[in-house]
Amino acid sequence: WSGKVHLLESVLSTQEEAKQLAESGAPEGTAVIAEEQTGGRGRMGRKWHSPKGKGIWMSVVLRPQLPLLLTPQLTLLAGVAVCTAIRKVSGVEAGIKWPNDLLAGGRKICGILLESSLHEGELHYCIAGIGIAVNLDADDYPEELRGVGTSLLLERGGRPVDRSVLAGVVLAELEALYTLYLERGFAPVQLRWEAMSVTLGRQIATNSPEGRRKGIAVGMDEQGFLLLQGPDGTVSSVCSGEIELI
Ligand code: BTN
Repeated sequence: WSGKVHLLESVLSTQEEAKQLAESGAPEGTAVIAEEQTGGRGRMGRKWHSPKGKGIWMSVVLRPQLPLLLTPQLTLLAGVAVCTAIRKVSGVEAGIKWPNDLLAGGRKICGILLESSLHEGELHYCIAGIGIAVNLDADDYPEELRGVGTSLLLERGGRPVDRSVLAGVVLAELEALYTLYLERGFAPVQLRWEAMSVTLGRQIATNSPEGRRKGIAVGMDEQGFLLLQGPDGTVSSVCSGEIELI
């Protein structure tokens, strides 16, 4: 990884630390990794449980020259890079649920939060936040997450994973895929995403602001939106919100 990596003990959220670095001009590739987050954030304003020494809590500064419209592609890119790294290092066959939750055995093992900062209506920088539940044991989960979340440790029958090795491979995969994306566009990322997807071909329901829609996930468009085929055969795209595999 060619960017500088800041290793911190305890922070509110690595997203805020990375944002501060980006605001003061930190170059693309600057990463922040913390042992513990006391105010870890998830998508849709949720909290992200980030106990000390148990996971990879990391945020990376990206400065792509990209129309705002295409930033969802970066979310998918990060999902592919992390999924590749998890499979390589841990042997756990994680899969991607659109847009970027990583699941193992049907449970969530990693979440990705991509936040964009704008300057005069244009993309200024992005912060890719990655949270991987590496060595959390069953009793490290609060009541409400039991049965929803899993960890690499649990999926490997109690065998822990070296977090430094995994973090290094995540950054290497991210750099390789991001470089490929800048050179060749979204197509190679999309191909990999499709191969790792646990969403395509499945019956899903959306919980988007336009209301609940049901159908089969039949593909992805060039922007990174999911294509949903409804009961009447028409295909429409799902651009935000969350989906449920049903
Ligand atoms: C989600 O699935 O809702 C996204 C979770 C993202 C969690 C990571 S952990 C590192 C970074 N710092 C945060 O506060 N959140 C992201």
